[in-house]
Amino acid sequence: MDAQWLYRLCPDLHQKDIFLCDPQSFMDTICQAAEQAKCDLSRLHREPFTPSHSSPSSPQVNATYYRINLPQFERYIQAASGQSILQALEAEGLPIIGACRNGICGSCKCKVHQGQIRTTTSGPLSEKERNEGYILACSSEPSSDLDISW
Ligand code: FES
Repeated sequence: MDAQWLYRLCPDLHQKDIFLCDPQSFMDTICQAAEQAKCDLSRLHREPFTPSHSSPSSPQVNATYYRINLPQFERYIQAASGQSILQALEAEGLPIIGACRNGICGSCKCKVHQGQIRTTTSGPLSEKERNEGYILACSSEPSSDLDISW
């Protein structure tokens, strides 16, 4: 990706505002290309889309383990306290999408049918969805055994 590529995409780039929302490294690359293309950088707007925190991917030694039942797959997995539900599902190769991994995009939305969770954000979920038991798997960890689906 470079200035030429940007101009092929947008021949009137100099007359445009540029809005970027992506991981930091991608935005840095685009900013460099825009600078090489002599764009007005004051018209370049950035929104970082990188997790500002992360849960441990592997359980801690003294972790408590909870059972997560997955009726749609007719199986269950184990998740440790301190581990996000998304991490636990991915560790078992289950087909859930985790894009931002930071409670922003909503791609990891799951429904809790039974059990308790601790959550740090429910950002993109509507009040109706929250009331119906939807959570964000990337921003939630079990605090009891769970039944979930997505
Ligand atoms: S992965 Fe984006 S909200 Fe969970």
